[in-house]
Amino acid sequence: MMNEIITNTNITIEPVEQSRIHEVDFNNLVFGRKFSDHMFEMEFQGDKWGAPVIKPYAPFKMTPATNVLHYGQAVFEGMKAYYVDENTIHIFRPKAHYERFNNSCRRMCIPETEYEIFIEALETLIKLDHQWIPKRSGTALYIRPFIFASDDLLAARSSDTFTYQIITSPVGAYYSEGFNPVSLTTTDEYVRAVKGGTGEAKAAGNYAGSFLPAKKAKAEGYTQVLWLDAKEHKYIEEVGTMNIHFLIGDTLVTPALTGSILPGVTRRSVIALAKEWGLNVEERRITIDEVFEAHEKGELKEVFGSGTAAVVSPVGLIHHKGKNIELDREKPGEFAQKCFDKITDIQYGRAEDKFGWVHKVSI
Ligand SMILES: Cc1ncc(COP(=O)(O)O)c(C=O)c1O
Repeated sequence: MMNEIITNTNITIEPVEQSRIHEVDFNNLVFGRKFSDHMFEMEFQGDKWGAPVIKPYAPFKMTPATNVLHYGQAVFEGMKAYYVDENTIHIFRPKAHYERFNNSCRRMCIPETEYEIFIEALETLIKLDHQWIPKRSGTALYIRPFIFASDDLLAARSSDTFTYQIITSPVGAYYSEGFNPVSLTTTDEYVRAVKGGTGEAKAAGNYAGSFLPAKKAKAEGYTQVLWLDAKEHKYIEEVGTMNIHFLIGDTLVTPALTGSILPGVTRRSVIALAKEWGLNVEERRITIDEVFEAHEKGELKEVFGSGTAAVVSPVGLIHHKGKNIELDREKPGEFAQKCFDKITDIQYGRAEDKFGWVHKVSI
C-alpha cells in the first residue's frame, strides 16, 4: 500500500488512493448506509492483540466456518462525533463507551482492549476522514467499534482469534422534521434479557433475539416493545435501543441497572443533568402498574427514551394488556426537551462542558 505512516501508538496508516466521498449525498443521509474512507483493524492471535492498522474501508474474506457466523461471539459500541467548527470535532463520552465495550468483552469471553489504542484510533480516523463529518445541526459521524470471533472452526466454545474493527458513517439529523413521539407496547410472550444473561452487554445476539418481537409490535401499530423483566413480567426495563425515564410529579424515575438492562451512556447523562438541575432522581425498580397508577392520578408528566441515536425520544403512548396511556403526542415534555437541548449544546460545543463529556479533536 502507498504512503504508509506510523502514529504514536504504532497504528500503521494505509491511506486510500482515491476517496469515495463524492458518492455521498450529504443532504439525504440514510443511517448506516455509507461508510467513510478508512477503518481501523486489529487482530487477536496467540493470546495477544497484534499490530493496529488503519486502512481503506473494504469488504473482507471469511470462511463459512467462522465462529461468529454460528455462535454469535461478538460485541459492539455505538457513539458519535460532532462537527464544531472547521478546526474542531467533539467525540461524546468516548471513555464511557470504551468502558462499556470492555464490560461487554468480559461477558462475551472476548479479550479486552486498551483505551490508548481506542482513542488514538478514533482521533486518527476523524482526522483522516474529517471531510466525511456532516456539518449541519443534528448531523454527526456515527462510530461503530466492534469485535468478532474469527476462528475458522465449527466448535461451540470461545474462539482463540478475534478481529477488532472501527468503522464510521455520516448520519443525518434524527429529528429533521421535528420530534416524533413513539408508541410502545409490552409483551407477555417474549423477554429481552434476564439477570445473569447477556442483557447488560452490547452483544450482537441480544439484538437478533429482539427482532421478532419488534416486528410483531410494529405489525400491531406500535413503534417498539417496552421490555418488562423476564421473571415477574412487571418491572420496566428498557426499549429497543433506548433506556427509559419517567417524570412522576417532580421526580425522575429511571429503572435501576439490575443486570439485564444495557447501561446507556445517554441515560447516565440525563440522570447527571437532572441531579444538576435539582430534580429528585430515583434509580429504582418501577412496575408497569405504578406507571398506569401515576397516570390515573394525573402525576405522570413525561415518559421518554434516551440513546445515542436520538438523544431523547418522547413516548406518546404505552399499551399494556389492552389499556393505553396517552401522553402529548405532538411535542416532547419540557424536561425531555431541556435534556435534548443541553446534551446537544454540549455535543456541538454551544454550551460549557461542565462534566468533561466531550473529547476534543483538532483537525
Ligand atoms: C439495548 C439498548 N439500550 C439502551 C441503549 C442506549 O444506550 P446509549 O445511550 O449508550 O446509546 C442502546 C443503544 O446503544 C441499546 O442498544
